[in-house]
Amino acid sequence: MALKRAKAGGVGRPLALVTGASSGIGAAYARALAARGCDLVLVARRGERLEALGAELGAAHGVVAEPLVADLATEAGLAKVERRAAASPAPAWLVHAAGFATRGAFHEVDPAKIRAQLRVHVETAQRLCRVSVPGMLAAGQGSLVLVSSLASFMTSKHYVSYAATKAYLNTLAEGLTIELRGTGLRVQALCPGLTRTGFLETDEYKDFKYDKVPAWAWMSAEAVVAESLAALDRGRGPIVVTGLVNRAFLGAVRAPIFGSALCKLIDYLSRK
Ligand SMILES: NC(=O)c1ccc[n+]([C@@H]2O[C@H](COP(=O)([O-])OP(=O)(O)OC[C@H]3O[C@@H](n4cnc5c(N)ncnc54)[C@H](OP(=O)(O)O)[C@@H]3O)[C@@H](O)[C@H]2O)c1
Repeated sequence: MALKRAKAGGVGRPLALVTGASSGIGAAYARALAARGCDLVLVARRGERLEALGAELGAAHGVVAEPLVADLATEAGLAKVERRAAASPAPAWLVHAAGFATRGAFHEVDPAKIRAQLRVHVETAQRLCRVSVPGMLAAGQGSLVLVSSLASFMTSKHYVSYAATKAYLNTLAEGLTIELRGTGLRVQALCPGLTRTGFLETDEYKDFKYDKVPAWAWMSAEAVVAESLAALDRGRGPIVVTGLVNRAFLGAVRAPIFGSALCKLIDYLSRK
């Protein structure tokens, strides 16, 4: 007889719903929040990875981590996660880390990929925030973390759709911060730079010129998440750029002449 799985958030532990939990930054959030005593709903398409992570977190921290297999690029998948976020108990944390890159000239990118990116990055963020906020307001606390990117600030070739969707997340986080001030809710758009994750193992990146990027330009997913949570704890935000190197880089990109030279270098490294 199959054992009935315990429901995440069912015994009074805070509940965190994490998208993109099967890999990289999302998995690092799941580990960090489990270490803080949260039960979890782990969302992604690769169910076997979610099962393995759930078992690991249950054994390490005594929390319940419930896999929720869903393709957020589909209406059915997104609606399934939306229903879970709206159900009781309400999540105390919403971390939206699911995402993927589209590389290449905007007019040459497969339109289906652009539609999927809009759904996964933009529509998912909007709908999951929309259904999570009422429960958080009722509880008088909650954290909304949207994983954006350093790319959201850069007008560079080859990432036009990606950068535009991430810029949306920054604006959403800024607007929600203003609207939710004084309610106990915290909002963050996290903007990592180059981070060692599965993101760079996808087909989009197989020809990326990694050897031209120095080791100090990279961060680990764990370091990125530690900065995100520390910034929330200190009340900083809503836009958080991780790592000294990335903050310096952003300053340089915004400088008039040097900035355009730097963008040309990025274009060269990113060209397909
Ligand atoms: N790595 C970097 O250098 C970097 C830099 C800046 C920002 N970011 C952002 O960080 C976030 C996390 O990426 P990562 O670096 O951790 O990459 P990753 O290791 O490839 O993780 C991406 C996650 O998104 C999930 N995902 C992708 N498409 C999905 C879909 N249609 N439905 C459901 N889940 C989907 C993947 O799960 P499944 O494949 O199992 O569905 C996976 O868990 C992304 O939003 C990315 O834009 C990454």
